[in-house]
Amino acid sequence: MSDPKIVKLVDESSNRSSELPLISGTLGPACIDIGTLYKDTGHFTYDPGYGSTASTKSAITYIDGDEGVLLYRGYPIEQLAEKSSFLEVSYLLLNGELPNKTQFEGFEHEITHHTMMHEAQKNFFQGFHHDAHPMAMLAAAVASLSAFYHDDLDVEDPADRKLAAIRLIAKMPTIAAACFRYSVGWPMRYPRNNLEYVTRFLHMMFEVPSEPLEMNPVAAKALDLLFILHADHEQNASTSTVRLVGSTGANPYASVAAGITALWGPAHGGANEAVLKQLKEIGTPDNVETAVKRAKDKNDSFRLMGFGHRVYKNFDPRAKIIREMCHKVLAELGVNDPLLDVAMKLEEAALKDDYFVERKLYPNVDFYSGIIYKALGIPTEMFTVMFAIARTSGWISHWIEQHETPGSRIGRPRQIYTGAGVRDYLPTAKR
Ligand code: ACO
Repeated sequence: MSDPKIVKLVDESSNRSSELPLISGTLGPACIDIGTLYKDTGHFTYDPGYGSTASTKSAITYIDGDEGVLLYRGYPIEQLAEKSSFLEVSYLLLNGELPNKTQFEGFEHEITHHTMMHEAQKNFFQGFHHDAHPMAMLAAAVASLSAFYHDDLDVEDPADRKLAAIRLIAKMPTIAAACFRYSVGWPMRYPRNNLEYVTRFLHMMFEVPSEPLEMNPVAAKALDLLFILHADHEQNASTSTVRLVGSTGANPYASVAAGITALWGPAHGGANEAVLKQLKEIGTPDNVETAVKRAKDKNDSFRLMGFGHRVYKNFDPRAKIIREMCHKVLAELGVNDPLLDVAMKLEEAALKDDYFVERKLYPNVDFYSGIIYKALGIPTEMFTVMFAIARTSGWISHWIEQHETPGSRIGRPRQIYTGAGVRDYLPTAKR
């Protein structure tokens, strides 16, 4: 029997019906196109958290949560993690194809020559309190790029869109390092064009005037891998935020700044910071059992950070790769981190516990990334900033795709109103 191409929905109370076409993508389940539902039946759909809703068509990233599959432009994440680099992956996300040698060199040249911050933007940081969270500074600094590049902000112009993408990917590490250096009271560092993307970032982060910086190639390799794994993840909360803001015609810097603020929450990118704080709170492997018990208690709001995922109901494929890297990095850097013992015990306890097994709660990418960041000397408050550097290439690829898609409309969901019915205003004396 061939697949039905139409789903018929009948409202028996009013006898109104709607014939809703099924739309299929290249991979993944078909979607019911409900565009005419309200006109046909007078009903909206209700899907809090969008668990059954595709908000857009996209050709960038594919996830099969049941099978633990993640593809960027069709390429399995495992192959990209092993063979590619973050900058090459960024090109792939933006352009749809892997670059040849000349294309890659051109892209790298462009990125390298847009890494500097405007001198006036450096003054911005002086306005922040000394202990401002780096994510707060990052969001503000990225939004402020619109003030520095307002002449090139025609969102309808493909050249302006491309330039914004280059600027964002290029400047994000410079801005991120500036956030860190301001918070520790170190002088800011200019990007060095003789270094490649990740090493340049590490140099801007850790070089101090008093002594030369010895760059560890293991650190650069690990960071590059983390950036690849975090570069995109289809319509997650922050990417959907970028698209929603972008749908209003807002400029790319404003749209990406909104994505940064969405990423900050502990249910999303902020989980990597929350994981490390939680591992520290648990303290020793002996306390793991109590933590697991608390996570299962419905009267306790405590959750195991770094466990669970809206889409992956099998192991997060990124977590598999990162778990291996985590052990390698700690061994190669000679770091003996007692938090890893807590993490391993927690992982083991949760994976064999019925509560976690039944709900398919596996460690996600953020469970291990914090341990690696910590081993690289990156402070906890910077973890989500690291995620934001990587996700910028995904965010801006989606923003561009949205603008290249004909017929895009402003995102404007509806609601089920549960407030008071119509009532008359009473003067104060009568209330
Ligand atoms: N610890 C304990 N219980 C959990 C956890 C957890 N980490 N995650 C989900 N559950 C339970 C819920 O209580 C719920 O149980 P119930 O069915 O008995 O009510 C069930 O599992 C389903 O959970 P939901 O919250 O409905 O799942 P949802 O898809 O909405 O949330 C999320 C996914 C936000 C990732 C959630 O698992 C969570 O809060 N995890 C911890 C935070 C985290 O690690 N976030 C990073 C996500 S990855 C990323 O953004 C890169």
